[in-house]
Amino acid sequence: MKRVLILVMGILVSLGNWAGGAMAKGETPFASNVNMKTGAISVPEDYTRWPTLGTWTHAKVDEGNANIHEYHVVYTQPTTIAYYQKHRRFPDGAILVKELLHAETMSMTTGPAVGHATTIKGFFVLVRDAKGRFKSSALWGDGWGWSFFNADDRVTTTSKDYKVDCVPCHTPALELAPQNAKKDDKWIYTLGYPVLKKK
Ligand code: HEC
Repeated sequence: MKRVLILVMGILVSLGNWAGGAMAKGETPFASNVNMKTGAISVPEDYTRWPTLGTWTHAKVDEGNANIHEYHVVYTQPTTIAYYQKHRRFPDGAILVKELLHAETMSMTTGPAVGHATTIKGFFVLVRDAKGRFKSSALWGDGWGWSFFNADDRVTTTSKDYKVDCVPCHTPALELAPQNAKKDDKWIYTLGYPVLKKK
């Protein structure tokens, strides 16, 4: 009897360790910019040291002259690019930071309408969540965490509900995405990121 008890206790202790280990693992941020308790997203501190995924240029035509007034520069972790090139999908924990930059246009020795970035206007941040971690948050769903930040506050998002703030504008991406892309990856405008095409 005593032996059985010791055995049962032994199993319970190892189960406890296993559960404890699993819990500790659950608390480890799967992405560096996510608060695992609240699901709050911030602008990752180190994103400027990441490679750019691609750049979008916004031009207006004023009195016949092209005027580049904004750039959208998208950054991601180098591991995300390597993973996508290999598996054709974004990995759990992939972070996409879209930096909005004001721009000015000048005539330069390279051409008559050359734009350059000036100051940061804001940030859009997406975090890939393949596990549906924050079901009660209005900023998580459809496989991603979604948040916008003004230039002067990289910690507190101004976003309230991704279905209102983000989804309507990302719906055209679903049609533009490669047919065989994973469902939740179709929210991303991958047509602007040729680096993902390479093997
Ligand atoms: C006005 C429409 C619009 C809204 C609102 C919008 N997006 Fe986007 N988003 C786009 C378009 C179009 C692109 C790609 C072209 C560009 O940036 O001009 C894009 C690109 C992005 C990118 C780069 C990755 C990609 O999909 O290509 C991120 C990150 C992003 N958006 C996050 C968000 C988040 C988070 C929200 C909500 C808080 C949001 N966006 C709201 C239209 C929008």
